Amino acid sequence: MQTSQHWNDYWLHSSSLSSFAEGTAAAGYQGELLAFWQRYFAALAPAAILVDIGTGNGAIAVAARQFSNQQQLAFDIHATDAANINPLVTFAHNAQLLDVLKQIKFYPCCPAEQLPFPDNSINLITSQFALEYANIELAVTELLRVLAPMGTLVAVMHHNDTQLAQDCLAGIKVLQLFLEQKPFFECARQLISSLIQQQLSAANPAIQRQCQQHNQQLLTLVSSIKQQLKEEHQLWFTDVMAKVAKLIMQPAEGALQALEKYENQYKANLLRLLDQRQAAFNADKLAALQAFLQQQACHFSLELLEIENQLFGQVLIIQK
Ligand SMILES: C[S@@+](CC[C@H](N)C(=O)[O-])C[C@H]1O[C@@H](n2cnc3c(N)ncnc32)[C@H](O)[C@@H]1O
Repeated sequence: MQTSQHWNDYWLHSSSLSSFAEGTAAAGYQGELLAFWQRYFAALAPAAILVDIGTGNGAIAVAARQFSNQQQLAFDIHATDAANINPLVTFAHNAQLLDVLKQIKFYPCCPAEQLPFPDNSINLITSQFALEYANIELAVTELLRVLAPMGTLVAVMHHNDTQLAQDCLAGIKVLQLFLEQKPFFECARQLISSLIQQQLSAANPAIQRQCQQHNQQLLTLVSSIKQQLKEEHQLWFTDVMAKVAKLIMQPAEGALQALEKYENQYKANLLRLLDQRQAAFNADKLAALQAFLQQQACHFSLELLEIENQLFGQVLIIQK
């Protein structure tokens, strides 16, 4: 199973514990979603063995560890991901979090389709926006192998009808326009280069003309991108424009490197969004998964999950 380089890069550079979370939520899942997971932790025996698959920086594993410690239980917690994760290094600067992370065993480069656990050994397997990124039939077969008798798998998965999925589509549209269909970053690079040259050469009319030309090219391009966008694209559009405009307004040394860094970050972001769209459940995918699960030796349910009165995802629960 091949690991995607863009996920390796994401976790290497992310300072968030979970994906889809910036700001305060970057410290891990909270509120109703955390309460949802805690219900499953509460149903476990004191020395239960847990595995969080597709763990990223370990948000669900950390929630389980904190629950176990608060309740004075002794869960044995393992966290796997196909990507080359290394939360202990990523959060080396955060002593409190590091202390919790050290009480979890992480397995980088470990796809859900092939797990290093014995048969019938795990009491609870969790997955938050991860199982659906794997080959789901191979992964479920493997998860059923390692689940202990009476063990439970709980997977919260992307669903096409959520706000997150709509935002994903909006992001794909905007980033494809900026990165693929129009030479936006190339134009911005030319403009910033000529602005830097202009700063270095006092009042050179040829360079001034070049700046004006590049500026006009970029304005025309931005206006044509804008014409193709709707209200739901605005946040993505503003995000790219604000970063690039800042570099154009202050074309200092390092601006070209910063522009290249942004371009690469947006390229990786686009790949993650394309993965996410591919992973999300629709009626056809759901029917196929149901048909597959009916042939397995397990009980299962597939339900929609609402968090804070909004559709959040599709929950798969398997009981072995
Ligand atoms: C959207 S992130 C979710 C990460 C984490 N569960 C969270 O909620 O923050 C999806 C994760 O699935 C991982 N992934 C993709 N394919 C996988 C596979 N076949 N097996 C295990 N993990 C996989 C990616 O590397 C990525 O870390």
